[in-house]
Amino acid sequence: MDGAVKTRLQSSGCPIQVSRILRPDDANIAGNVHGGTILKMIEEAGVIISTRHCNSQNEERCVAVLARVERTDFLSPMSIGEVAHVSAEITYTSKHSVEVQVNVMAENILNGAKQMANRATLWYVPLSVENVNKVVKVPPMQYSSPEQQEEGRKRYEAQKLDRIETKQRNEDQIFPAINVEPYTVGYSQSSLIHLVGPSDCALHNFVQGGVTMKLMDEVAGIVAARHCKTNIVTASVDAINFHQKIEKGSVITVSGRMTFTSNKSMEIEVFVDADHVLKSLTETAHAVTAFFTYVSLDKDGKALPIPTLKVETEDEKRRFEEGRNRYLQTKAKRMAEAMKCQ
Ligand code: COA
Repeated sequence: MDGAVKTRLQSSGCPIQVSRILRPDDANIAGNVHGGTILKMIEEAGVIISTRHCNSQNEERCVAVLARVERTDFLSPMSIGEVAHVSAEITYTSKHSVEVQVNVMAENILNGAKQMANRATLWYVPLSVENVNKVVKVPPMQYSSPEQQEEGRKRYEAQKLDRIETKQRNEDQIFPAINVEPYTVGYSQSSLIHLVGPSDCALHNFVQGGVTMKLMDEVAGIVAARHCKTNIVTASVDAINFHQKIEKGSVITVSGRMTFTSNKSMEIEVFVDADHVLKSLTETAHAVTAFFTYVSLDKDGKALPIPTLKVETEDEKRRFEEGRNRYLQTKAKRMAEAMKCQ
């Protein structure tokens, strides 16, 4: 983890904790730490614990790559000067994948106040160092009870089912904007192009999942800010599947478009495409796709109303309705969880 000031690493299977102070370049102009920075820290902790676990019993050296991140909510904003404590533990192992639970706690070191900022669940798959196309077996973890193992198995089965659905929308594309009137989809649609260099790849010649998520959050943030012209922060990210490795030397194009607005939130769909500058294009499917939800905050941190997205084409109308359904479903889930906690 870059800039790490304290690292407590233990033997395989034990939880790990990594802490670092949040700096001005981690935040937007209003001082709120970017969701992408937090996702990158989470992913780095996940790589450490899962790679360590996968090498604990295997003869064949391997590197764990990020295959999936479950839907994650940003529970409270983090600010410059706070310390992020990122803790990770392995919660389930299948034959070829590792589930890692990561918690991010924000600490104000001036007054000792602590707040949970994010909880994320990530899935890693170990690939052989000798042959990056070979998936290596995962050493089984020790569960504290049969119930813990059974709960893990259910989560594993659920994500496998969900993956089939995301594959279906992997064919969709973002076309150049025709209408650039304010509040239309085309008006805020944005993309960025990034050349994958050595600093994006750590243990092998492929982009670290956290780097990609940070770029995705950056584009989603630009779309959100262009739409509402106020301070915006990441509220949540829907499940993301990483279908393809992105090699060093590739050019990544990250594109985002707004799909839905509620009264106080915006949903942005992000696509990642990669092609190697020195190789001819063979794959046409997106390497990654995801939905980010943003909110706009006033100077006191209160959510502001969002201008309604103007949808014009049949596709935009369909995507808006699909976004509304996702919004209503997650809102109902959040409310049910809040009721349980009372
Ligand atoms: N989420 C969670 N687990 C996944 C997954 C996903 N999206 N895709 C595959 N897996 C798991 C499978 O369940 C399987 O484990 P199991 O046998 O215990 O069930 C294991 O990965 C291997 O599956 P397999 O079908 O043999 O492999 P694959 O050809 O689908 O490759 C990856 C899986 C993850 C290696 C491949 O999709 C990949 O290289 N993705 C990119 C990884 C990466 O570079 N991440 C950072 C990107 S920026």
